[in-house]
Amino acid sequence: MKRKFVLPDTSAKELSIQPLERSETIPSTWYTDPRFFEVDKKAILSNTWQGIGHISRLRNAGDQIVGIVAGNPILVVRGQDGIVRAFYNVCRHRGGPLALEDCSTKVLQCKYHGWTYLLDGSLRGTPRFDRTELFDKKDFGLIPVQLQTWEGFLFVNLARKATGLQSTLKDIKERILPISLATKKFYRRISYQVNSNWKVYVDNYLEGYHLPYVHPELCNLLDYQNYVTETFDYYSLQYSPIQEKGNFYGSNNSSAFYFFVWPNFMLNILPGRLQTNLVIPSSHNCCTVLFDYYYDDVESAEGRKVIEEDIQYSDKVQKEDAEICEHVQRGLESAAYHKGRFSVDMENGVYHFQTLLKKAYRSFFQT
Ligand code: FES
Ligand SMILES: [Fe+2]
Repeated sequence: MKRKFVLPDTSAKELSIQPLERSETIPSTWYTDPRFFEVDKKAILSNTWQGIGHISRLRNAGDQIVGIVAGNPILVVRGQDGIVRAFYNVCRHRGGPLALEDCSTKVLQCKYHGWTYLLDGSLRGTPRFDRTELFDKKDFGLIPVQLQTWEGFLFVNLARKATGLQSTLKDIKERILPISLATKKFYRRISYQVNSNWKVYVDNYLEGYHLPYVHPELCNLLDYQNYVTETFDYYSLQYSPIQEKGNFYGSNNSSAFYFFVWPNFMLNILPGRLQTNLVIPSSHNCCTVLFDYYYDDVESAEGRKVIEEDIQYSDKVQKEDAEICEHVQRGLESAAYHKGRFSVDMENGVYHFQTLLKKAYRSFFQT
């Protein structure tokens, strides 16, 4: 049955995929019309693997992390049996929250009227509920969500049937050898609000075309001439040798890997350092970007110094990106803009993302 959506720029022609050389960029309405925010939640965020945190933050039974996926509050918790599970962070009584922030508790207690759940999601305590009839606690456990782990990263998927995460991310591990993600230690999370559509932020991440104009300093650090973008089924890789000698990312001849994992997760890998970015859409013109920092060495004084420099530097680059994204959002919202074109040399990563987006929209609008 066809969905009865009457949204602009969603004809078969608009959703068709042309070769990069001839392709237009996606229409501005997809970034600016609030109704596409709802489409993105249903067509993309609700049925893809969504990063939610790192296993190192769930060491002991009762450790919990919270997140928002496609607008849904999610809770991930390690059980008494050691198993890590994900649930909607939504009480089965009247929808209250079990956890308001990352924390550690022996049972999950609703913040509204105090119902308690065991760490495996089963309902245990229901104060002042003796006279309620035809009520069986067994029917009111927390609603589980699919959870998978890759290299220590936790991902959830709200779809009932989801393809394996491992197959989505296959080959990344081999590609970055001898670097191993699993040995990195979590250091800090920094959250940024960006006043643009989440897709503006992702587009911007996916090309080095803007480097000389938006980040001239980063341009000196990376070997801009040898910056390459490779695309795979559900991820892409921007790769660049690091050219500046004596910078805090280590010696010459090292490389920077920027992986984008469809639809909103990034792994930025430099010598001794890993930074992940998770882009969480919060409305049609606003998103939150979570930067999680991981390092090989988080203990020594020397290590700490490198970390502080790294975080300061990333913060500068992020602010430059956020600022240009906010300007672009205004440009997309203006009467002047509808669609653009791609640089074949520099924007195949953006084209790859927009092609996956069109495919997701196609199955949403045309089935
Ligand atoms: S909503 Fe949770 S106890 Fe009432
Ligand atoms: Fe940038």
